[in-house]
Amino acid sequence: MSQPAENSIKRLTDLQTLVSLCKRRGFVFQSSEIYGGLGSCWDYGPLGANLKRNVKNVWWNAMTRREDIVGLDAAILMHPMVWKASGHIDTFTDPLVDCKSCKTRFRSDNTESYLTKKQCPNCGSKDLTEPRLFNLMFKTFMGPTEDANSVVYLRPETAQGHFVNYENIQTTSRKKIPFGIAAIGKSFRNEITPGNFIFRTREFEQMEMQYFVKPGTDMQWWETWRETRWQFLESIGLNGKRLRFHEHAKDALAHYALKAGDIEYEFPFGWQELEGIHNRSDFDLTQHAKFSGKKLEYFDEASKERYVPYVIETAIGCDRLILAVLCDAYREEITPDEETGKPDVRVVLGFHPETAPLKVAILPLSKKAELQEPAMALRNELARDFDIGYDDSQSIGKRYRRQDEIGTPYCVTFDFDSLNDKKVTVRHRDTMKQDRIDISQVANYIHNGLRNFNAR
Ligand code: GAP
Repeated sequence: MSQPAENSIKRLTDLQTLVSLCKRRGFVFQSSEIYGGLGSCWDYGPLGANLKRNVKNVWWNAMTRREDIVGLDAAILMHPMVWKASGHIDTFTDPLVDCKSCKTRFRSDNTESYLTKKQCPNCGSKDLTEPRLFNLMFKTFMGPTEDANSVVYLRPETAQGHFVNYENIQTTSRKKIPFGIAAIGKSFRNEITPGNFIFRTREFEQMEMQYFVKPGTDMQWWETWRETRWQFLESIGLNGKRLRFHEHAKDALAHYALKAGDIEYEFPFGWQELEGIHNRSDFDLTQHAKFSGKKLEYFDEASKERYVPYVIETAIGCDRLILAVLCDAYREEITPDEETGKPDVRVVLGFHPETAPLKVAILPLSKKAELQEPAMALRNELARDFDIGYDDSQSIGKRYRRQDEIGTPYCVTFDFDSLNDKKVTVRHRDTMKQDRIDISQVANYIHNGLRNFNAR
């Protein structure tokens, strides 16, 4: 079976196609759907949960298997002074305007009709309130009393956990500068305009790394990290042609940043930020030292210098990366049906095997017990090494298509000949090529295949 020509491949052009696939195949569901859903909140179903875990694992391993980076798992709730020191209480705000006619609330700093004509984007009315600053942090109360003294915030970024633990981690891990701290965890922002599926939500997961460096070497490290992060994104299968780097103008920098830029991805709804790479200078450590009264410095034994390190941050949303991975993996091909030979549309999620929710699926050719039992035994054996699927309903052609649509790199067909020759057919997702191999060699075959995988 030959591969279809590039020009007969259609990529994802509208997000709704992906949203439907994600729901139909159990990747992502709307939160609380039976109650009509909760705006911009999403649940990951069986395949989505696997995909998410794989995306986190590749990020975590790429970071913490380096000698110069260690991991952290910090609490979501932090001392309220953290947010005073970090600047989030005073400056993590969006300017909002209310329309007195239709009651629409919108951001005044990025709404075209307001910026050009001072008009409501919904009804065109000019009867509007003045812009008011709205803090994006979710507030709640700790303990039984609901008063100003018990207010705590759901963290809007994981990064502050890295800063407040800087000294604990540096002294216990005995890392010398330059070194980094990596963490994965939930963050919350009361976004005014969430949307585009899992792109911008109010509850999301971040994968952030703070790299502590000697002042003066920061710009060089900023360059290094933006290269490293670009390479990482390509290494998990994202097409470099759909990535670009956008450097922030000086007047668009976040309150803590000395220099910042984003790696952007070309989503079906346009180029958007995927990952931020920021030079946060010594802003956070200096602020926390000031507010906590604890010195947060580094002593360089070799040069006998004492200084507050500068920080280069890499920050990516796990959910946003999953959306990029899904968009990038999606393709439709016109290709002959594997049973009838007639031209047919095949939908494939061409995941890199590291992120694919299932690595292999076992497909017994018949439901007869004489095939089911050994096929299930093979399934259980391979489940020791791989996330695995098992499908015994409908024609083999339909089952191949189902596995293609969820991105399983290998299908293993167990047929009646397998009982005698102790061989199975391994079918490859991307080429649809088939190999007949010994059952005893299947695990090795898949291991080698996944390691040397060459995704399209
Ligand atoms: N600690 C720095 C920081 O949080 P950011 O640019 O605000 O920087 C970093 O966020 C990354 O987190 C973004 O590039 C994006 O991938 C993800 N992110 C931010 N807000 C998000 C949201 N509302 N929904 C999903 N992902 C979000």
